[in-house]
Amino acid sequence: MPLVYAGLRPRFVDIDPQTLNMDPNRLEGLVTSSTCAIQAIHLAGNPCDMALLLKVARRHGLVVIEDCAQALGAKYRGRKVGCWGDVACFSFSKNLDGIGGGMLVSKNPEVISSSAVLQASFPPAPRFYDSYRVVRLAVASRRGSMLWDAAYATIMSSRKGTPTGRRVLQSGGVELLGRTLYRPSSSQAAFGLHRLQHLDESNRCLEERAQRLAERCQDLPGVELQRTTVDSTRVHTRFLVKTPGCSRQIVTELNRRGVEAKHLAQEYSTTYREPVEELPEFARKDSARTCRTYRSLHDRVVTLPLSPSTRCTEIARIARELGSVLRRPTRDSESTSIETAGWHGGQT
Ligand SMILES: Cc1ncc(COP(=O)(O)O)c(C=O)c1O
Repeated sequence: MPLVYAGLRPRFVDIDPQTLNMDPNRLEGLVTSSTCAIQAIHLAGNPCDMALLLKVARRHGLVVIEDCAQALGAKYRGRKVGCWGDVACFSFSKNLDGIGGGMLVSKNPEVISSSAVLQASFPPAPRFYDSYRVVRLAVASRRGSMLWDAAYATIMSSRKGTPTGRRVLQSGGVELLGRTLYRPSSSQAAFGLHRLQHLDESNRCLEERAQRLAERCQDLPGVELQRTTVDSTRVHTRFLVKTPGCSRQIVTELNRRGVEAKHLAQEYSTTYREPVEELPEFARKDSARTCRTYRSLHDRVVTLPLSPSTRCTEIARIARELGSVLRRPTRDSESTSIETAGWHGGQT
């Protein structure tokens, strides 16, 4: 979104059906004389194939922006993500315990100084924001029981009332950056720095649990796991599975059974509600519509709940419930039936 507000016109690149990241093999054909940068998202903590991507970027003299929001601590070819491109941005609200804030890194001093000027123009975070974040964090750390889930959902939906999100975004213009972003407070920064010291340990716990969940899910009917990019060490900030049926139906059923799964069109944030090509900001741009693999997968990907503190019994239950939902007999009125076309159906 910030790219659109900065007056740039994104051209979407289709994804690789296995890694779910941008397919760098498709990049070359999309570069035009007006292309200035490539933005790579390390989706769900899975690093992009940076070698191939950088090759294309260098050949055409393009800037590479790494979106590491979901990949804090992940490595590609032994080096942390964020070290590969010209600029990288990180979020502290994924595997850094949800206190908010983020970080921009670059070796280019001009980028750093102009970013600092931009940041200084942002308003300070309102006072309630810290309390809200802390409550959100406390609730998130206790997620699992119905009561906490309900409280969490209520707090999350209260974000709609804040100046962030679609309500503000719809009014358009680059100055929106200054209205959708806050200058982090000192307590956010202090909390973030403290948590940063424990990041490796927390990522290790997360990976251990992800491994267990992967083992339990890999043989479920029609389920495919997101494949980790070759030569990389990922972090499972999101645990995605490709399902054979409609993810909305599967997620509804999982939620009914107390498993806090999500589908991609769900309200993760204010901007992920619909497939990207249906967002008003992109509706007139047809490049997302030609991303056939992305479109064929969008309604088949389910995010399963996972955190560094998820217990073994919970992991077993998540996999068991998913298996049970996928195996249950389907009624005519429902569309959770396992479709044979699968996600490769949309590929050319
Ligand atoms: C890929 C990606 N980029 C950027 C962001 C924005 O991060 P933040 O919520 O910390 O502003 C998110 C948040 O979910 C994200 O998933």
